[in-house]
Amino acid sequence: MGRAIAISRGRPPLVQIHYRTHDGRSGAFEAKVGQSLMAAAKSANVPGIIAECGGSMVCGTCHVFIDETWFAKLPTAEPMETDLIDYGLYPRPTSRLSCQITVTEAMDGLLLEIPPSQH
Ligand code: FES
Repeated sequence: MGRAIAISRGRPPLVQIHYRTHDGRSGAFEAKVGQSLMAAAKSANVPGIIAECGGSMVCGTCHVFIDETWFAKLPTAEPMETDLIDYGLYPRPTSRLSCQITVTEAMDGLLLEIPPSQH
């Protein structure tokens, strides 16, 4: 998969995040360590990440499916996050709200899938 890239002294390193859409498109984007996965995806115009609430965890429109291998490596979701996921469309065991995931260097190469719809 990807590899961490140190930009320059004093700046957060970048990691590569891979994605697939429900209709079979795929791509990748760079995310800064320390930013939310949602913010990185929005900056890269990843299709299907709406994030209406801007990361306040009230909209659920930043929902993603994390690849099973990677899901187990992420910090566990808080109960409020899982409640919001369960309330939304297409919940799966590997569902997460991307606004609640802080990018770390260990996430280099992470694979996620975009749900068919956020509404
Ligand atoms: S951006 Fe609204 S819940 Fe994540």
